[in-house]
Amino acid sequence: MGIDTSCKIGKLQLTTPIIAASGCFGYGTEYSEICDLKAFGAIVTKTITPQPRVGNSTPRIWETPNGGMLNSIGLANVGIDCYIKQKLPELKNYPTKIIVSIAGNTISEYGEMVEKLDASDVWAALEINISCPNVKEGGISFGTNTRMTQDLVKICREKTTRPIIVKLTPMATSLSEIAKVCEDNGADAVSLVNTYVGMAIDIYSLKPRIATITAGYSGPPIKPMALARVWEVVNAVSIPVIGMGGICCGEDAIEFFLAGATAIEIGTMIYVEPNIAKNILNDITHYCTLKNLVSTSQLAGLFLKTREFNTTCTISG
Ligand code: SIN
Repeated sequence: MGIDTSCKIGKLQLTTPIIAASGCFGYGTEYSEICDLKAFGAIVTKTITPQPRVGNSTPRIWETPNGGMLNSIGLANVGIDCYIKQKLPELKNYPTKIIVSIAGNTISEYGEMVEKLDASDVWAALEINISCPNVKEGGISFGTNTRMTQDLVKICREKTTRPIIVKLTPMATSLSEIAKVCEDNGADAVSLVNTYVGMAIDIYSLKPRIATITAGYSGPPIKPMALARVWEVVNAVSIPVIGMGGICCGEDAIEFFLAGATAIEIGTMIYVEPNIAKNILNDITHYCTLKNLVSTSQLAGLFLKTREFNTTCTISG
C-alpha cells in the first residue's frame, strides 16, 4: 500500500508536504521542464512588492566555502500589477498549488496588495514575507516587532478568506512571541526560518563579498539552527508550522517533520538539484514504510512519543 503524503495547512490541502521556497523557484514557470512539479505540494513564487524593483547592486550572491549561500537580492521583482497581469495567469493549470509571497514597505501596502490579489483565483494561499534582511524598509524590521506583526497580519486577514502563512525571521529574539501574535491575529500557519544575517570579506581585495556588506545566509550549514527554531515555535503555537532552513536530503526533511513541522520548504538546494523534491519524497515514504507508518503526517508524533518515554524512564530511574 502506498504512503499517504497529503497534508493540510488550514484550509489548504496539499498532495505532498514539500513546498518550493520563495526566491528559489522564480515565478514558477522557470523550472517546469527541469523537475517533477508534482513532487511539490505547492510552490511559493518570488516575493512581490507594490512597485517593480531592480534589487540591490552586485555582487549580490556568494557561495560560501562550507556549502552555504549569502544573498542580497533586495527583492528584485516585476511588481504586483505586472505579476497579476502576466505571471499569475501562466500558472493557472499547474499541477501544484500556488502560494503567492508578498512584501511591502508599510503595513497598508500589504493590505493593498492582498486586496488586488484577491481578484485572482489562480493562487491558493499567501505567504506574508516579514523577514527579508536585505531591504531598508519593511522586511525584517516588521518580523522582529510584535506590534507591527500584529497590525500587518490583522490587515491581511481582513482582505482575504484564503489561507495566510507568515514567513518569520530567525533573527527575532522572541520568535515564539512573534509566532503567537501571528496565530492570535488570524494567520493559518507560520513558515520559518528565512535567512540569518551573515557577511563575508575577500581578504585579498579587502572588499565585502556582497555589495550591501551584510546579506541573508542560507543552505546546509544553517540546518541545525533552523531546526531548533522550528522546534521552539512548534511548542509555542497550535497552528501548523512549515519548517525550512538548509534542508538538503530526505534525512534533513524527516528531522523537521519529527520536530513537528506539518510541511517543509526547500530553498537553496533547488539550485543544486532542481529535482530534489522528488528525491526527498521517495526518502520520506521509504522511512515511513520502515517505521510502519501509513502517512507522512504521522511522523510528527514519533519524536514526541520517544521524548515522553525517555522522560518517564529518566524520572522513574
Ligand atoms: C532578497 O530578495 O533579498 C531575499 C528575499 C528574502 O530574504 O526574503
